[in-house]
Amino acid sequence: MKIGILTGGGDCPGLNAAMRGIVLKAADYGYEVIGIQEGWKGLIEGDSRPLTIADVDEIIGKGGTILGTSRTNPLKREDGVEIVKENFEKLGLDALVAIGGNDTLAVAAEIDKQGIKIVGIPKTMDNDLSCTDYTFGFDTSVTIAVDALERLQDTGRSHRRIMVLEVMGRDAGWVALFTGIAGGADWILIPEEPVDFEEMCQHLNQVYKRKHYALVVVSEGIKIEKETIKSLDERDEFGHPIHRERGVGQIVANEIENRTKHPTRVAVIGHIQRGGTPTLFDRMLGTRVGVKAVELIANGEFGKMACLIGNEIKAVPLTDAVAELKTVTKDWWQLAKGLFK
Ligand code: F6P
Repeated sequence: MKIGILTGGGDCPGLNAAMRGIVLKAADYGYEVIGIQEGWKGLIEGDSRPLTIADVDEIIGKGGTILGTSRTNPLKREDGVEIVKENFEKLGLDALVAIGGNDTLAVAAEIDKQGIKIVGIPKTMDNDLSCTDYTFGFDTSVTIAVDALERLQDTGRSHRRIMVLEVMGRDAGWVALFTGIAGGADWILIPEEPVDFEEMCQHLNQVYKRKHYALVVVSEGIKIEKETIKSLDERDEFGHPIHRERGVGQIVANEIENRTKHPTRVAVIGHIQRGGTPTLFDRMLGTRVGVKAVELIANGEFGKMACLIGNEIKAVPLTDAVAELKTVTKDWWQLAKGLFK
């Protein structure tokens, strides 16, 4: 049995832990493993390399992906799926493990329908994949963002400023929500909830009277009606706008300063929250879903994604996992809002 692994979409801490889990478990079954370079691009171009136990020594604590990644979408290319199938055969693969978020796994679900034996592993710092409680990458990115917020807090307190932190997360507010709750933010703006500058600034004024500073966390994907926002014409191969171009953190900071008259500063941490050593949680989750993926292959359970439900690793159909984006629920938002005091 020869299995291929690919990592697609944005990199995140935990990818290498997952690949290590796959390679080590595959060894128990005597499976050969090869790594497809740079996500679906590698399967279109037939670009691969062997992955042995020696290759995965010492990678559990490393960020990024040793295979490289891309946002290549085979479904957007003429004959893309055919080429993927051809290369799957040329490489002598019996099964494929696709490690990715909604985009990569949506391609996996489609390719499964075309008869390729495939299983999925969920990853994304955005934590917006359905059918799994958490994706690896999220815990590390929020840990980094909380650290950033606490650093901003020092400056805010020292200079009596309102500090705004813009975080990633695309169309889901999980990163902003968890960063704000865990870092003690005074307000959080997420894509799922309408932005009410008046309500936020009244509250920030009240907070400022007490602490002489305030902290706000903004998700890059928030919807703002007054479009001082740059055009979002540029899209990736999966049709997503490039959110960092919008500069919402600065827009929010300007709004706050104009309305409250308190000095306000913004920091955008961007890709810093996607790199570096994975947390314990992400190492464990990556390892566990990696091992599970090989077990699914051994049991002939294709078209499924390994997932975390409670503290158990289970499997769900890929089609269910990619059916809809997992966004912040009202309960979570109520919890966060109840802490703005
Ligand atoms: O999906 C992960 C993510 O980090 C999003 O939060 C962000 O909007 C996007 O990727 C950035 O993509 P890129 O690294 O291609 O600029």
